[in-house]
Amino acid sequence: MSDVDQYLEAGRDRFEGELCELLRIPSVSADSKHKPDVRKAGEWVAAQFRGLGFKTEVCETPGHPIIYGERLDAPGAPTVLVYGHYDVQPPDPLHEWKSPPFEPTKRDGNLYARGATDDKGQMFTHIKSAEAWIKTAGKLPVNVKYLIEGEEEVGSEHLEHFIAANKERLKCDVVVISDTSQFGPGVPAITYGLRGIAYFELKLTGPKQDLHSGSFGGAVMNPAIALAKLMSSLINEKGQVQVPGFYDDVTPLTADERKKFTELPFNEESFKKQLGLDALAGEDGYSTQERKSARPTFDINGLTSGYQGEGAKTVLPAWAKAKFSFRLVPKQDPKKIQQGLEAFLNSHCPAGIRYELTTHHGAPGVVVPLNSDFVKAAANAIEHGFGKAPVYMREGGSIPVVATFREQLGVDTLLLGWGLDDDNTHSPNEKFSLADFHRGIRSSARLWQEIAALKKS
Ligand code: BES
Ligand code: MN
Ligand code: MN
Repeated sequence: MSDVDQYLEAGRDRFEGELCELLRIPSVSADSKHKPDVRKAGEWVAAQFRGLGFKTEVCETPGHPIIYGERLDAPGAPTVLVYGHYDVQPPDPLHEWKSPPFEPTKRDGNLYARGATDDKGQMFTHIKSAEAWIKTAGKLPVNVKYLIEGEEEVGSEHLEHFIAANKERLKCDVVVISDTSQFGPGVPAITYGLRGIAYFELKLTGPKQDLHSGSFGGAVMNPAIALAKLMSSLINEKGQVQVPGFYDDVTPLTADERKKFTELPFNEESFKKQLGLDALAGEDGYSTQERKSARPTFDINGLTSGYQGEGAKTVLPAWAKAKFSFRLVPKQDPKKIQQGLEAFLNSHCPAGIRYELTTHHGAPGVVVPLNSDFVKAAANAIEHGFGKAPVYMREGGSIPVVATFREQLGVDTLLLGWGLDDDNTHSPNEKFSLADFHRGIRSSARLWQEIAALKKS
């Protein structure tokens, strides 16, 4: 075993303990009452960098701070930019957690906590891999720059500006992100595509106040009915999105890619079982794999209107609200989707109802090339860490900064996910397999060596 791998073996318990420290900090970026905790988690990451002799800066933004750390140990060798996020999603619904979200708990080889896999645990693998090199060889074999933000879960609002303003400082040959999943247990993956997103909030207003549904119902357009109709007419019975022009810029999947999708070790029956479903649904003519990662979609994320309390109340609500989003594929432009949506609302919003549309985050989808030496280096590193060569897959989730790195820095990203798709990200009982945590660290440490062996581009 190499010195680095020996160091990693000896450090296993300590690494887990340190990760638990970070997981105990409730860095919920969406919730203003956790603002000090978000900063605390960022400072914790910065302290790790300082402890490893990184040139470290806590970069203030109008929102949560960005943590930047660099070590330029290897003149002439490639420079890697590692991106991750230290913020987490809200833990709600709290009563569904078997152990409290911010008291990390080990059960059946997994570590349960909010942020365990998304993204504290995965991000931390790249810090411990750097430590292993520094403590054994005295330095890293590549130059590293770490950009760890605290606003990913709320749309990375201030990151784009930071990257545009720090192009020189962030200059690199390749980006590495671990914030995705393996294809399945024992099937490590390199992700080559992520979907984009366009997220909206719609408020429909009818009468000036709530009305008695007996006295007025039937004579007045009910905003909740109008909302239900509008939302359901955004998608047809074939599962196709009805926003005008929605599919105009969608690149059709090639026969070759579709064939590769069928070769992935996917079992639809166990997928249904995992989700507690007896049937799957989606766009006609596409497989589940295609539907969940490579085709654009529409989803309602939240609906609110009328009486929500106990018992029945005969009310005709004055307003109705929906939060909804479209997942996008490369070339679909979130701005164009918004224009199409506005045209749709203008032609479909019924008389007697006013609408107000708010736009939340938007990000384009990405596909990264697989024919680079960096991808080969990553595949070798994963084979070393996981004992198996990776498969190549697309993911349905979004990491907005990947497109920004391409646009602003002109570099591609290696998406090396150590998670699993049953890790319960964004939901109760989030977990991270500890075996995968250590395999991730081992892969990361090997990646620095594999990349160092490539000629600088
Ligand atoms: N780690 C996820 C992205 C992800 C999710 C990758 C699922 C692969 C599979 C990230 O933290 C996330 O949740 N992203 C948001 C982005 C949004 C807030 C702009 C998402 O996908 O909803
Ligand atoms: Mn994430
Ligand atoms: Mn997330």
